Order: sequence, then structure tokens, then C-alpha cells
Amino acid sequence: MGRKTAASSAKSKEKRMQRKEEQNRISQAMAVVAQANKLEDPLQPFPVFRKFNKNGLEAELFAKKSTNLDEFIKEWSFNLTKKNMQLKYEQCSWGWCDSKKREELFDEAAWYLVAKGLDGTLLGFSHFRFDIDEGQEVLYCYELQLDPSYQRKGLGKFMMQVLELVAFKNSMKKVVLTVLKNNQSSKFFKALNYELDESSPIDDEEESYPYEILSKINKRLVPHQSPMKVNSHHCCSGHDHHH
Ligand SMILES: CC(C)(COP(=O)(O)OP(=O)(O)OC[C@H]1O[C@@H](n2cnc3c(N)ncnc32)[C@H](O)[C@@H]1OP(=O)(O)O)[C@@H](O)C(=O)NCCC(=O)NCCS
Repeated sequence: MGRKTAASSAKSKEKRMQRKEEQNRISQAMAVVAQANKLEDPLQPFPVFRKFNKNGLEAELFAKKSTNLDEFIKEWSFNLTKKNMQLKYEQCSWGWCDSKKREELFDEAAWYLVAKGLDGTLLGFSHFRFDIDEGQEVLYCYELQLDPSYQRKGLGKFMMQVLELVAFKNSMKKVVLTVLKNNQSSKFFKALNYELDESSPIDDEEESYPYEILSKINKRLVPHQSPMKVNSHHCCSGHDHHH
């Protein structure tokens, strides 16, 4: 009500512009995600990364949407996740629920990166999605599970490198994941230079969270800065939210 002054209408115009800009950004992000979800084979540009051979372990990798995945691979991925994670979920406030995990794993937005041995033995998999997270286009790694017999041979690290290649090739802003604090895997992801994401919840007197959110940023999409600017940025530290 009442008359708008020149200053207040300028302000509301600015707000409208900001809203419009934000909407444009989100629809751009959604278009990038939709494009990635149309891929037939995300590994196609990286033939070298279809094979792993290290520490006496040989593997072949492929990537598929959950809707195209064989039933027995789906069943195996559920059983492996349950074997690796059930106790850890039960030891914190999350709890374990078969049907919820199945729903998440077999959602039609789910993508799989699967590693199998040369004789066809299934070794490990990642469930990932191209998605919008906190308004940004990201590759969200929901799961990385290796059969215990094939852990600590470098395959997990290799699979994360493949996910990063796929994410950044398809213009995702970052690779994001949630890890339980009671799980050794935090050490694994930190060894791979994953950092606490700005969306990771911070414990206070009222609530402590059993998980943290880690991420790796796509450096190619960070605006280019001159050396002078990089220095000054470093001095005022853009990383305060990490502490
Ligand atoms: C976590 C997991 C994916 C790691 O894959 P991996 O193939 O075993 O790990 P890598 O051999 O590639 O390890 C790379 C580096 O990460 C670190 N690392 C890996 N596992 C670690 C552990 N349990 N404790 C401490 N550091 C670890 C090490 O620095 C390691 O290098 P090194 O072996 O030369 O010391 C795998 O162990 C796994 O499936 N665990 C059970 C399921 C799980 O917790 N998944 C993650 C949450 S979704």
C-alpha cells in the first residue's frame, strides 16, 4: 500500500532481476542434468578407463542406468550394500531398512558403474546420479561398494576417478557424497582429496549428525582468476566454512 518511492521501486526491480537470474541458473542446471541422463554409455569417451589392472586385480568396467541393468546385478548390488553397510547404519540414528535401500538403489534415476573380473565375478559397483543439489548440477555418488575380498587394491580409487571424469566431462559442478562418520571410508575419500562440502551439517549442542557431506569441485568450471587475484583470494581464505 501507499506510494512507492523511486528508491524502493529500484530495490524491488533489483530483487526481481535476482529472482529471474536464479531461475535461469536453475533451469540451465536442469538442462545440463537432463542432457547427462540421456547418455547411452558415459564411459564411451574414456576407453582406457574401462580396464583396471593393479595389485594382482584385473577388472573391466561398464556404466548403465538402473533401468537397463540385469536383475542379478541389481540383486548382487543390494546384497553387497547390505553386507558392507547394515551394521554401520544400525550403529547410528539412520537404522537399516531393506525396502528403503532397494527403493533408493533401483530408482529410475540411478546409474551404475560396475567392475567385474575377467571371469565375470562381480567385484564392486557405484550407484550415482546426475542431479541438482543445493541448486547446482552435480554427480551424486550414492554408493561405492567393493566386495571385501577386493578392497585396498586401488579399485575404489580408480572407480572414483572414473566418476570424476564422467562428472566433469558432462559439465557437473562437483562430485558429492555422504559418508557416515563411523565408517573408515571418510579416510578413503579424504585420501582422494574430497573436502567437507559447504552443505555438510555442523554439530551443535542440540544435534549431532552421524554423517558428513564431502565433495570435489570441477576446477574447469571455477572462473579463471589472475595470479594476483588467486593470491588475494587465498589470503582472505574462502574456506572458512570448512572449520
Ligand atoms: C571404501 C572403499 C570403497 C575403498 O575402496 P578400496 O578399493 O578398498 O580403496 P583403495 O585401495 O582404492 O584406497 C585408496 C586409498 O584410500 C585410503 N583408504 C582406503 N581404505 C581405507 C581404510 N579403510 N582406512 C584408511 N584409509 C583407507 C588409503 O590411503 C588408500 O591408499 P593405500 O591403500 O595406498 O594406503 C572400499 O573399501 C569399500 O567398498 N568399503 C566398504 C563400503 C564403504 O564403506 N563404502 C563407502 C561408503 S558408500
